[in-house]
Amino acid sequence: MLKYEKLEKIGEGTYGTVFKAKNKETHEIVALKRVRLDDDDEGIPSSALREICLLKELRHKNIVRLYDILHSEKKLTLVFEYCDQDLKKYFDSCNGEIDPDVVKSFMYQLLRGLAFCHGKNVLHRDLKPQNLLINKNGELKLADFGLARAFGIPVRCYSAEVVTLWYRPPDVLFGGKLYNTSIDMWSAGCIFAELANAGRPLFPGNDVEDQLKRIFKLLGTPTEETWPGMTQLPDYKQYPMYYVNPLSYWQQVVPKLNAKGRELLLSLLVCNPTKRMSADDAMQHGYFSDLNPSVRQITDVISHLHV
Ligand SMILES: Nc1ncnc2c1ncn2[C@@H]1O[C@H](COP(=O)(O)OP(=O)(O)O)[C@@H](O)[C@H]1O
Ligand SMILES: [Mg+2]
Repeated sequence: MLKYEKLEKIGEGTYGTVFKAKNKETHEIVALKRVRLDDDDEGIPSSALREICLLKELRHKNIVRLYDILHSEKKLTLVFEYCDQDLKKYFDSCNGEIDPDVVKSFMYQLLRGLAFCHGKNVLHRDLKPQNLLINKNGELKLADFGLARAFGIPVRCYSAEVVTLWYRPPDVLFGGKLYNTSIDMWSAGCIFAELANAGRPLFPGNDVEDQLKRIFKLLGTPTEETWPGMTQLPDYKQYPMYYVNPLSYWQQVVPKLNAKGRELLLSLLVCNPTKRMSADDAMQHGYFSDLNPSVRQITDVISHLHV
């Protein structure tokens, strides 16, 4: 810890407090995350430490780099690459207007980061705008990776805020415990719509019931036919039978997204997790056929500098 000079506090989230800091020797700016545990007396579970060590090897230009793990008796501090701001703050500053090319670029980078992790069987499980970091040069990086797996998804944040349900898929809301990569693809769909609407969340539910109602109202209530096994999920409850909206309705939901974008969005927002599109397939979608080639190339060059 003596190696770093703490600068200002930059965030507080689910697991603890994040500070901007400077490496006293190299003058490099980093983000220090002090992880708080529900039960501080117990120390850090070895399973959690193992998970976190794996994250150090997860190196990709669209994933916030974990440089170091500082572990003393009861304290755990993670040293991350510093980014300019998170997507939530970006939304707050963009005055309800995001350029469609920026939406496309951010969505592509989100999918590329996910495809990399999913290829290594690492799930995020808590994707939301606060956990996506962006840089002034237009890079987007997934943050807060793996802690959900290391510590479990908590019900309350360290700051006593309730953990948001807005990005949770229906299978998880129904108590499904067989997590796989599809959980992140649902969240990616919700974030895609939010990007297209310049920060207006798609499903801002107040509780589990309200969350599922909002989802079913927009997508139609699933049935055993469209989603075999749904009624067997631990917390399954019957909901009113909402019908599937016509495609044209989606022009009102995401007015600034073109037809291909809406098609991609609907491939991600599928209630049946087995029918949800994967990150690899989503990257190949026609919506990205006119992706600015420099988005791919520039970030490629930057990643070589960081390795
Ligand atoms: N590497 C970073 N660079 C800049 N800001 C960061 C960084 N990591 C986290 N933050 C800020 O701190 C907040 C909380 O960090 P996060 O890693 O999501 O912690 P938590 O697990 O507590 O949610 C983020 O939403 C973001 O605003
Ligand atoms: Mg977070």
